[in-house]
Amino acid sequence: MDLINKIKENAKKHDMRIVLPEGTEIRTLTAANQIIEENLARIILIGNPQTINQLAKDNGLLSIDKAIILDPISHEKKDEYIDLLVDIRKSKGLSREDASKLVEDPLYLAVLMIKAGDADGEVAGADNATGDVLRPAFQIVKTLPGISVVSGAFIMILKDKEFGEDGLMVFADCAVHPNPTAKELAEIAVATGHTTRAIAGFEPKIAMLSFSTKGSAKHEMVDKVVEATKIAKEMAPDMMIDGEMQSDAAIIPAIGQSKAPGSKIAGHANVLVFPTLETGNIAYKLVQRLAHAEAIGPVLQGMAAPINDLSRGCSVSDIVNLVAITANQAAGMKK
Ligand code: ACO
Repeated sequence: MDLINKIKENAKKHDMRIVLPEGTEIRTLTAANQIIEENLARIILIGNPQTINQLAKDNGLLSIDKAIILDPISHEKKDEYIDLLVDIRKSKGLSREDASKLVEDPLYLAVLMIKAGDADGEVAGADNATGDVLRPAFQIVKTLPGISVVSGAFIMILKDKEFGEDGLMVFADCAVHPNPTAKELAEIAVATGHTTRAIAGFEPKIAMLSFSTKGSAKHEMVDKVVEATKIAKEMAPDMMIDGEMQSDAAIIPAIGQSKAPGSKIAGHANVLVFPTLETGNIAYKLVQRLAHAEAIGPVLQGMAAPINDLSRGCSVSDIVNLVAITANQAAGMKK
């Protein structure tokens, strides 16, 4: 069974409640219909109920009648969510008046539902930019204990099975944090190791990438990766992590052996941690396009609740897959 089918089979067992705040967006609605039909999760759609029901009818999406539909402007828990938001953001000076407007924003409402225990996870971004999806999540659910930074991993399914774990690799951070410090980069590496175990299903061999391998170049950017590698190893002594190394040394055994002799990771890495968002985002898109790899994600990691962001160019199956991944994350967090 391929990875996506395994993830979907697991999602079916968990029966999680996933909220989709872009309920009137047609790809989202089509995906919701498919998710309900495949029993991957229980679906909560946010949006005007009349609009959603009409769209569903016009497009033959008959299973939408099994979704919960929440009107962001008027619903019975509105006051409760306003109180919750004011309480969480009072240190930032959020007034009740401003909170009353924010709870009508589906992206805030979805996160508040999770915080209040009324949903288990969220998928959004078919119609909204990454920053707009992430900001409410950062403000309301925040990060996991011991983690200060959220990042985004991609599971790369390569055509060439000789790389990674039979063609599977995990890349991070490709989606969120523009320029992490050494400590933040270490957290990203450890979080990616956990994502690899939980979602990709294999034991991570993590390469901390740079333009230098084991001291071949001297620069403050190299120093950052060296320091991050040291911190990451201290944070997760049970994880295989090595660096700093160049990408060829990370994935080609002969080059790994010659540039980083004795390293268990060099030449055999299945997880690549990039030094900045720029490098990670550029790399995953190039591998996706030039090597015709499938890129699943971004799977957001480090957040205290499973909230995942889609690309605005996403397809219906991207949404279905990300909901299945989110359901698995939600079940893992409940454990
Ligand atoms: N992890 C955890 N919390 C964070 C992070 C992070 N990575 N970044 C910001 N925050 C928190 C802040 O601490 C702050 O919390 P507070 O209000 O409680 O103090 C809150 O989020 C807002 O912080 P700002 O600095 O105001 O955040 P801003 O909204 O300016 O930026 C954002 C955050 C949107 C994620 C920004 O870093 C960003 O735009 N990143 C790039 C996203 C992107 O465009 N990715 C590429 C496209 S995705 C793709 O191609 C797959």
